[in-house]
Amino acid sequence: MSSSSSAIQSVLVENRVFPPAESVVKAARISGMDGYNALCAAAEKDFEGFWAKLARENVVWNKPFTRTLDESNAPFYKWFDDGELNASANCLDKHIGTPVESKTAIIFEADDGAVTKVSYKELLAKVSQFANALKAQGIKKGDRVLVYMPMTVEGVVAMQACARIGATHSVVFGGFSAKSLQERIIDAGAVAVITANYQMRGGKELPLKGIVDEALAMGGCDTIKTVLVYQRTATACNMVAGRDKTFAEALAGQSTECAPVAVGAEHPLFILYTSGSTGKPKGVQHSTGGYLLWAKLTMDWTFDLKSDDIFWCTADIGWITGHTYVAYGPLAAGATQIIFEGVPTFPNAGRFWQMIERHKCTIFYTAPTAIRSLIKAAEGDASVHPDRSDLSSLRILGSVGEPINPEAWMWYYKNVGGERCPIVDTFWQTETGGHMITPLPGATPLVPGSCTLPLPGIMTAIVDEAGNDMPNGAGGILVVKKPWPSMIRTIWNDPERFKKSYFPEELKGYYLAGDGAVRSEDRGYFRITGRIDDVLNVSGHRMGTMEIESALVAKTDLVAEAAVVGRPDDLTGEAICAFVVLKRARPTGDEAKQIAKELRDWVAKEIGPIAKPKDIRFGENLPKTRSGKIMRRLLRSIAKGETITQDTSTLENPAILDQLGQAY
Ligand code: WTA
Repeated sequence: MSSSSSAIQSVLVENRVFPPAESVVKAARISGMDGYNALCAAAEKDFEGFWAKLARENVVWNKPFTRTLDESNAPFYKWFDDGELNASANCLDKHIGTPVESKTAIIFEADDGAVTKVSYKELLAKVSQFANALKAQGIKKGDRVLVYMPMTVEGVVAMQACARIGATHSVVFGGFSAKSLQERIIDAGAVAVITANYQMRGGKELPLKGIVDEALAMGGCDTIKTVLVYQRTATACNMVAGRDKTFAEALAGQSTECAPVAVGAEHPLFILYTSGSTGKPKGVQHSTGGYLLWAKLTMDWTFDLKSDDIFWCTADIGWITGHTYVAYGPLAAGATQIIFEGVPTFPNAGRFWQMIERHKCTIFYTAPTAIRSLIKAAEGDASVHPDRSDLSSLRILGSVGEPINPEAWMWYYKNVGGERCPIVDTFWQTETGGHMITPLPGATPLVPGSCTLPLPGIMTAIVDEAGNDMPNGAGGILVVKKPWPSMIRTIWNDPERFKKSYFPEELKGYYLAGDGAVRSEDRGYFRITGRIDDVLNVSGHRMGTMEIESALVAKTDLVAEAAVVGRPDDLTGEAICAFVVLKRARPTGDEAKQIAKELRDWVAKEIGPIAKPKDIRFGENLPKTRSGKIMRRLLRSIAKGETITQDTSTLENPAILDQLGQAY
């Protein structure tokens, strides 16, 4: 394993510790470090008993489980596996007959600012009716349904409706291309696609159904029998008779009542594709019982959710954060949440702050990239500074998806949180299902840039390459020593890859997160130093370098060879840098510019705009060892603009380093 870590170099050294206010500690569910330590001790003492108790208290079971953890086929762990439940019933039905039923479940703000509110009761009716529409299309328990939707109430309804009938959803982010969509449809063997005619983002109408059509036309998608289309805008889209139906057509005449289908706790609730070190994205498969438990519980623990909170997680439902902290967690916890369709910079970069004021948001959860871009915007234009909005409703702030640099942390803490709101810097992954390492707002003294300590029951550690524990202060590989309920169950269609990627033999059966980390000497706090594999984190989006390389070399008329690395970027955390050898002479000047644009557009078509390399360098060759291996470490240095100090004696063709160093 080589370190590709390229976290933003922090200029600010912030050694202050920010303890939680006494008033917050007093009112918190997990109160003070004593409260935290007591829970950790309970998990240490009786691991299974700890989880069994939580699962009984936090999940409504149709059939109670009698087995907590089955390790007989490790690492294919099973949790609560003889229990039965329904995820949608745990998010909706369970609130009926309680004061939550008439509470607002979702405050939806559209791209153009229009606001709609949906109560829990209304949401249950919508989900039930949609579930009936799915059944009427012949979709049943165990089928896979691909969801390619904008950030709307309907997106959440589609996911919940699948869960209600026991169908496994696979949501694909609306920024992925037709090709990416096709690959996911084929891998999942999906029977239906749920999409919208268009999506509205930043005042622009962007096609979704058109991309679905393109994906299906690429072939291999014969499993798809139905395409359901939400008419988000008035613009017409192509409809294929016999296959495509609008939501209105599908919902017509369907009852707003639908009995939830009880499934086994291990039944796959969803598959979510994410990038790994090798070319093909992996279909991360999650369970129903363990996943739901953790979605609900981390809402209570990490956000210390109260009944009058207005929760806002800005993540799209196409990512894991939008699954756990939009589509499931807030509903399972009975929260009122804000869902926002648009982008933070439209109509201006004060949109987030204005929305917090408008909806009296109390818990705000977003990504460091968004914070950094809004800092930049506020520095350039005082009218979009958070101080122009009344943010006094806020009580807790969260960060997710990438390391937060201390500069951004301090700005967030001061300018958004008014030095009053704790920041929960939550470390987790698509594979972990929910938070793993995070401060607790009413317990943990905060250190900017550190995700602090694991949640109770989560046995994270830092080890060397043989799985031996590293002392505090020494960096190493982040692992989880014991299974946890919301962990990935397998890679869809590829159990071997699951074993190899996450439970390599040399690590003693520990779960390998793929990140490097270090614990502080004084407090044992964790700090994530970045990925140790070939995965990049660009604006909090995971991208595999091999995935982008494969896309580049797929342009066979032009590209002979390509290598992709990350380099630090002040705004996006990491930026994609591609080194390309063409099948023709190395281009310079305007020609290089024009070919770089062509390649960027190509990658956008192959994967999606989020995978476009920021930087493309052309060489006659790539730096290779005599045995033909590309020297990626060298490329990372070149991408950063560093002078090469590494030993290049094994390099076959040292002259090309100069070439690759030149931007056109
Ligand atoms: C990174 C997103 C530092 C990490 C929930 C991880 C973080 C990858 C943090 C997972 C954090 C996520 N601090 N790094 N608080 N949160 N990461 O699957 O590298 O999209 O492995 O899940 O994001 O990205 P994923």
